[in-house]
Amino acid sequence: MTDVLAAFEAAKGFMPLDEGLALYAAAREAAAGLGLPLLEVGTYCGRSTLLLADAAASAGTVAVTVDHHRGSEEQQPGWEYHDSSLVDPATGRTDTLPEFRRTLFAAGLEEYVVAIVGRSPQVAKLWRQPLGLVFIDGGHTDEHAGADYEGWAPLVAVGGLLVIHDVFPDPADGGQAPYRIHQRALASGVFTEVSALRSLRVLRRAAGDLTV
Ligand SMILES: C[S@@+](CC[C@H](N)C(=O)[O-])C[C@H]1O[C@@H](n2cnc3c(N)ncnc32)[C@H](O)[C@@H]1O
Repeated sequence: MTDVLAAFEAAKGFMPLDEGLALYAAAREAAAGLGLPLLEVGTYCGRSTLLLADAAASAGTVAVTVDHHRGSEEQQPGWEYHDSSLVDPATGRTDTLPEFRRTLFAAGLEEYVVAIVGRSPQVAKLWRQPLGLVFIDGGHTDEHAGADYEGWAPLVAVGGLLVIHDVFPDPADGGQAPYRIHQRALASGVFTEVSALRSLRVLRRAAGDLTV
């Protein structure tokens, strides 16, 4: 655990350590309990992926991580979270895939990760396998967060966990799209909140149909 947390802190990314520890605890519980793959939407440079990968490895399963690697709206040039060192000089576009691969390699966790380069809704349409945990940390507009919820929440296995990042009930603290999908999950009658730490919410799926 010390090693994976050191790698987490060394990796580029946005998740603070306390939220990372909450995600890691959820991932370990889900992986050990169900033995099913853990899936993340929003790889970026792999900071949170490391936690899912280590949890998956300890339970003999894998972490799947989905990202088009071109960055979210707020990571584009001129925006608050832009990192010019992640721009590919050949295309002039953000490309977080090389840094992600370095992160995973440095942590020795490559064999526990299936990385999918693509748009979350397109990948979700192709996916059939039930998942032990879905972690939503992709695009933060209503369009993207809504599509992530609709695409992936139905694939959480009964007893599995849905984890949502950047949930801010107060608009003064941040954008509302992740909060709105959090509210949709609670209103579904299928997900119940099991923990909340700052902007990270962990919900468990009960039996029953999920209408999204
Ligand atoms: C906030 S960052 C993820 C941070 C990462 N989980 C971490 O802890 O470091 C959001 C990522 O979602 C990706 N993304 C945004 N919309 C997406 C979409 N529709 N499909 C796939 N990836 C998307 C962006 O490219 C970006 O890398």
